[in-house]
Amino acid sequence: MITNLWYVAEWSEAVKDKPVKAKLLGQNLVLFRDLEGKVKAMADVCLHRGGSLAGGWVNEKRDCVVCPYHGWEYDGAGKCKKIPSEGPEFKVPDRFKVDAYPVEEHYGMIWVFMGDLPEEERYPIPPLAEYDNPKWKALKTDFVWKAEASRVVENGIDIAHASFVHPVFGYPSTAEDNYIDEVEKHEWWARSTNVMFPPQLKGGFLGWRNFIRKDKQETRVHPEWHLPGMIVRIQIDLREGWQIVMFDANTPIDEHTTKTFAWQFRSFFKQDIFDKGSVKRLKTILLEDAEIVEATQPYYLPETLANEVSVKSDKFMSTFRMARRKLVEEKGWQIDMDERDKHKGKQVLTVASPGRREAEANGDGWVFEKMPTVAPIKKATAKNEFEKDVDNLTTESANSKDSFVV
Ligand code: FES
Ligand SMILES: [Fe+2]
Repeated sequence: MITNLWYVAEWSEAVKDKPVKAKLLGQNLVLFRDLEGKVKAMADVCLHRGGSLAGGWVNEKRDCVVCPYHGWEYDGAGKCKKIPSEGPEFKVPDRFKVDAYPVEEHYGMIWVFMGDLPEEERYPIPPLAEYDNPKWKALKTDFVWKAEASRVVENGIDIAHASFVHPVFGYPSTAEDNYIDEVEKHEWWARSTNVMFPPQLKGGFLGWRNFIRKDKQETRVHPEWHLPGMIVRIQIDLREGWQIVMFDANTPIDEHTTKTFAWQFRSFFKQDIFDKGSVKRLKTILLEDAEIVEATQPYYLPETLANEVSVKSDKFMSTFRMARRKLVEEKGWQIDMDERDKHKGKQVLTVASPGRREAEANGDGWVFEKMPTVAPIKKATAKNEFEKDVDNLTTESANSKDSFVV
């Protein structure tokens, strides 16, 4: 699990006037909406005797969440403002703070930045131009996987599996015809263009879906991954002017659980009547994927390609692994789960927030210990061995029909 990234914690509509419990990176969070309608997110643990703030309420002024155990109040910056037992004159010490995390709301989703980087160093929340755009009909759903988020992302951007796992996307017999046409790589996101030959669509009233696509019609599919939000975005060009866009935020709830907050947009048949069938098909696809992904080994996505083999159809997935590996090895943002587990049930550890970083810089104390992260093992290098592997996959074998084994 990687810190210092934005993640989707909840749908916006889920946070109204009561505190809401959420979990990101294995850490419990409390979300609440203040008087101005701004969502606040902080560690869901009271400094006093460890009460869960999410079990409390928002105070009358709507600027604090109140612990249900002894009524301590915390503002949106995680600062304890009031300790009722000590009387109104009591000055709460400065160090009575819990980690509070930056929050933004976009696309009807609550994004929480789980880290302590200053604003200008954060990778941005990915764009979603289709949201709130009348050219597109939107629907949403969510789905919980018993799998680690990186495995879920890799599955989402893997086009070759479609011929085997999703009957709606391909036939095993035409698997060799699909190919990756282009790959565009960036530091925290990448996009590829794939050519596929899927089956004719079926179903719908009077079989209307047959008209969308002919059998084995050449179809362009553009998967993207974005490290912020562990986003998988897939654009499918069904035919001229007819497109489907999927935007899945794959939130690491903990190392065993991923929650996908999924938007789907379509540029055709925009009446509500078609939504029910679309959601059903989307769920079917997620279930087909989950059956495969939840059974993969090793449980955690390998960081190197050393103990697996890859072929040219894996080159886009390799760009994701490469970028993720940089966060682990060069930035040191991976949670050290072995170290964390030594303290399990005995001590509260919370992911470092910007407020904690500031307090440390000023030499001020902080009550809870910091969630341990794995120290970086290398400086940022222009090319590491892994990148060379990926480049080989993306260049030498890009237009070759031969399998390229790393
Ligand atoms: S545990 Fe929260 S006020 Fe005592
Ligand atoms: Fe899939």
